[in-house]
Amino acid sequence: MDTSTSPFAESIALGQTALRIPRLGVGTWAWGDRFFWNYGRDYHRGDLEEAFAIALERGMAFFDTAEVYGMGRAERFLGEMLRDLPAQVVVASKFFPFPWRVRRAALGRALRGTLKRLGKARVDLYQIHFPWPPRGPDFWVSALADAVQAGLVGAAGVSNYNAEQMRRAYAILQARDIPLASNQVHYSLLHRAPEYNGVLHACRELGVTLIAYSPLEMGLLTGKYTPENPPGGVRSRRYSRGYLARIRPLIGLMREIGQQHGGKTPAQIALNWVMSKGAVPIPGAKNARQAESNAGALGWQLTAAEIAALDEASEKIHPPPR
Ligand SMILES: NC(=O)c1ccc[n+]([C@@H]2O[C@H](COP(=O)([O-])OP(=O)(O)OC[C@H]3O[C@@H](n4cnc5c(N)ncnc54)[C@H](OP(=O)(O)O)[C@@H]3O)[C@@H](O)[C@H]2O)c1
Repeated sequence: MDTSTSPFAESIALGQTALRIPRLGVGTWAWGDRFFWNYGRDYHRGDLEEAFAIALERGMAFFDTAEVYGMGRAERFLGEMLRDLPAQVVVASKFFPFPWRVRRAALGRALRGTLKRLGKARVDLYQIHFPWPPRGPDFWVSALADAVQAGLVGAAGVSNYNAEQMRRAYAILQARDIPLASNQVHYSLLHRAPEYNGVLHACRELGVTLIAYSPLEMGLLTGKYTPENPPGGVRSRRYSRGYLARIRPLIGLMREIGQQHGGKTPAQIALNWVMSKGAVPIPGAKNARQAESNAGALGWQLTAAEIAALDEASEKIHPPPR
């Protein structure tokens, strides 16, 4: 791993761009989000500032945000924390294709709002959040290329694009001499769709970085939620007690494997597993403890046999499609 040319703990190139990012970043969906994550009750601004400081200290200075997170609060918080920072920090944000956004210029307007909240003249990575109608995936990728050529965006990315949409995005950008840097999709030990639907394969083939969101399956892979102690809020509807019981053998195996690596936690095993597949996880961290714990996924590697055992245990919960 090349650590000489970058301040990050372990760094890789973002797709085929000149930009280097750490192998592990930080997701900021929860930064200011009251509805899903309970911001303001379970954790506060000071907790996020501490998480931010730990991320920088531990070489995870790659933050993923979006204009819709906390209705702009996540970008604003991040912008305030970034102010006057000498350290090299990579910031990724996203354009949300609301149904009323039908003109190409809408992306430029949204981007200017993002830059204002972030307090930056240029965002390092800008992603189309979803390939949704009415305009669809290609339309917004062309608008993204305009923003790159206007110098407002360092690297162009997409999110939640399937393999075919991503290949088209790649070709549209390539025709304008812009590499498709990344595709951000849901990828964890409990959600391995990118391995089955061609997205991981396309990323490897085209040299596009797969950025893995919800790599801890929204906290489930930390092992702290059980049928007796389920998560609250929206997650209680998404993950039943029955499901929490079904994932127990996997969590047990993760604990066992963690012991072989000096007491690594299930969360650290989950993140190391994602990295072992060549993807860059961006676990959400709400406080210093979580950021510190997630940083413990860096600096060591699961063995091939351990990865195979984890694959097998996860397939017992979600069998691969035939
Ligand atoms: N592109 C997209 O459509 C999309 C969709 C979803 C997410 N994302 C991005 O991906 C990022 C991560 O995904 P995510 O937030 O959905 O899920 P995640 O990273 O799998 O889980 C994050 C949650 O797990 C808990 N947690 C994190 N680290 C922990 C630790 N070390 N120990 C114990 N608990 C810990 C925290 O919640 P509790 O403490 O409340 O359990 C935290 O909010 C987001 O922040 C966002 O940037 C993108």
